Amino acid sequence: MRLNPETVRQIDSPIRTARALLDRRARERALLDLAQAAPQYPAAPEVIEHIVAVARHQHGGDYVEIAGLPHLRELFATELRTAYRGHVRAEHVVITAGCNQAFCLVISALAQPGDEVVLTLPYYFNHDMWLRMNGIAPVYLEPGPDLAPTAAAAEDLITPRTRAIVLVTPGNPSGVTLDQHRIAELSAVATRHDIALILDETYRSFIDTDEPPHALFADPDWARTLVSLHSFSKDFAIPGYRVGAVVASTELNREVMKLLDCVAICAPRIGQEAAWAGLTSAQQWRRARAREIADKRRWFAAMMAECPGGFELLSTGGFFGWVRHPFVGRPTDNVVRELAIRHDTLVVPGTAFLPDDRGTFRVSVSNIDRAALTEFAARLTAAGGSRPQQTLNR
Ligand SMILES: Cc1ncc(COP(=O)(O)O)c(C=O)c1O
Repeated sequence: MRLNPETVRQIDSPIRTARALLDRRARERALLDLAQAAPQYPAAPEVIEHIVAVARHQHGGDYVEIAGLPHLRELFATELRTAYRGHVRAEHVVITAGCNQAFCLVISALAQPGDEVVLTLPYYFNHDMWLRMNGIAPVYLEPGPDLAPTAAAAEDLITPRTRAIVLVTPGNPSGVTLDQHRIAELSAVATRHDIALILDETYRSFIDTDEPPHALFADPDWARTLVSLHSFSKDFAIPGYRVGAVVASTELNREVMKLLDCVAICAPRIGQEAAWAGLTSAQQWRRARAREIADKRRWFAAMMAECPGGFELLSTGGFFGWVRHPFVGRPTDNVVRELAIRHDTLVVPGTAFLPDDRGTFRVSVSNIDRAALTEFAARLTAAGGSRPQQTLNR
C-alpha cells in the first residue's frame, strides 16, 4: 500500500512522542507531567448532570444539524456579544469537534495546495502540521523581543498566495497574550490584503483582565476579515467531549459546513450539550477555575524568578510557561529526554513549535499545584547548568 507522502513526512504527535520517553524513566520519584495541557479536575456537577439526562433521553444520541444545536449557537453568540461588546449572531457560529477541527476546516475552506498561510513563531504544532499535510506553505512570522508579532513584520510576508494570518492568543506554547491594539494592527494588515485573520482563542478565558480579548467584533463589518476559533475543552474541563466553534461570516461558514458534513456530519451531540450546560449554569465555576490557573502561573513565575539551574522563563500566560535551558549548543530534544529519564519531569521540546532549535521547551503550568511547581523548580536546579543562556552568550 502506498501512503500519502505529505502525511508520512510529518512528525508524529509531539505529545505522543514526549510520552514515549516515560518508558525509560528512572521512576525514582513521582512523575511531574507537564506535557499536555489539560484540566486536571472533572467538569462542573451541573454539566455532568445535564449530560446524564441527555444520554437517557430518547433522542440523546441523534444527529444534530451540521452547524450545531440551535440553542447552543444562540447562547454562544450571546456570550460573545456580551464578552466582546460586539456584533455576533447565531448564524456566525458553527459548532465543531473541538478547536483543532475548527482550524482544519477553516484552512481547507480558505486555501488550496500551493497557497501560503502566515504562522507566528513559536506556532501551535497542529497548525503547522495541518498546513504541511495539505500542501499549504506555512510562512513564519518572527515575533519581536517581547515575543509578540508586529504588523510591519506580517506585512512583509504577504504575497499574492497568502490566504490568512494565524494568531494564537494567549499563545500556545509561549503563553504570550496580545493586547487589543496589536491584534487590531494585525487585523488591519489582513483587511488591506483581503485575507483572513484567524484568531485561535482557545485560552481566552485565562487572561488576567476582564477587558474583551480584542475589539474586532465591535466593528459591524468584522466578518469580512476575522475568523475566530474557540474551544470548550479547557473552559469547562471537557477536552474528551470534543467541542469547539468557528465564528465567521455566513459565506465562510457555508464552506466550513460542507467540510464538516463530510468529516463528521456534526460535532458530537453530547459535547454540544455539555458546552450548553456549561454556558448556562457553570459560569461561576468557570471563573473560579481560571483564577486557580492564574494563581499557578504567578507561583510558577515566582519559582522561576531566580532561573533555577540556569533555566530561564521567557514568557508565561494561559496554561503555559516557555522556558530556555542553559545548555548552549546541546540539542533541546536531548535536554528534554534527560529531564524525563533522570528527573521524572515531562515537558515538550520547543522543536515541536519551531522550525529550528532555539533552546526552549514548553511547560504546562496548569497541570500541577503549587507544591509540585516548587518541586519542578528544584528538579531544574538539580538538572541544570549554573547560568541562563543569555548570560552565557554575552
Ligand atoms: C492553541 C490551541 N488550539 C486548539 C487546541 C485544541 O483544542 P480542542 O480540544 O478544542 O480541539 C489546543 C489544545 O491544546 C490549543 O492549545
